[in-house]
Amino acid sequence: MLPEISRSMLKNAAVLGLFAIVTVGAVTLLQQGTAERIQAAERAAQVRALGEILPAGSYDNHLLDDSMQIQDRLLGNKSPLPAYVAIKDGRPSAVILQAIAPDGYSGAIHLLVGIHADGRVAGVRVIGHRETPGLGDKIELAKSPWIRSFEGKSLSSPEAEGWAVKKDRGEFDQFAGATITPRAVVGAVHRALQYFDAHKAELLATGGETTGAVGDALESRTEPAGATVHSRAGSAATRDELQTNEPEAEPQGDQP
Ligand SMILES: Cc1cc2nc3c(=O)[nH]c(=O)nc-3n(C[C@H](O)[C@H](O)[C@H](O)COP(=O)(O)O)c2cc1C
Repeated sequence: MLPEISRSMLKNAAVLGLFAIVTVGAVTLLQQGTAERIQAAERAAQVRALGEILPAGSYDNHLLDDSMQIQDRLLGNKSPLPAYVAIKDGRPSAVILQAIAPDGYSGAIHLLVGIHADGRVAGVRVIGHRETPGLGDKIELAKSPWIRSFEGKSLSSPEAEGWAVKKDRGEFDQFAGATITPRAVVGAVHRALQYFDAHKAELLATGGETTGAVGDALESRTEPAGATVHSRAGSAATRDELQTNEPEAEPQGDQP
């Protein structure tokens, strides 16, 4: 009797073990496939947003492949995020910084802020947010042209007081019933311009070299304000990078 019971227990244990192995394997495969698809979608969204901010022909390098990693309080990131330098005929023409507005209605809002070498905003796009559909999501170009109101603006135009929503006596529209979201984005774009202004010499110091060289020049440099700048060629924003900076912010919005 006893050997029969232990044989049956062994059989059940083996069946259970096999079931567990197959299940774990299937879930792992599924996760890998999903992660790859998400990364591919995010890379596609980045490419599209970069292309919208800087029209083709305004640069002749590969923005995504020639990026550097930057971390700074003004950009709102706690770990390095990619920045892209556009180069035309060997001269830097613009920079696209990834910035985070930490104070959205529903958490962090992830942005790309394109800035011409002369300090004018080339364009801004939202690449991730969790704002309320119908209220805060008007920061997406697909929902409203509001995000284009930054184009051509600079640190001096408008002056500092103008870098606020109209409700706060600034120049930028808020949305009906939703002031928190546009206020957060205006603040983040303003801070990105301040970052650019403080670091444009390094950001644009390619002197006809590659952006990789810019990154090398910046590598491991520690800013006076405690900000650290790192470089890594061939990088693009990944889900990990976004999550490392603000885990609660799921990329969505302008994402495909
Ligand atoms: C369910 C719900 C969702 C909301 N979502 C947003 C939002 O995504 N963005 C936003 O700016 N305000 C949102 N609001 C409105 C804000 O609570 C706030 O009233 C509005 O932004 C005006 O802010 P102000 O008082 O600073 O002008 C939401 C309100 C509710 C009740």
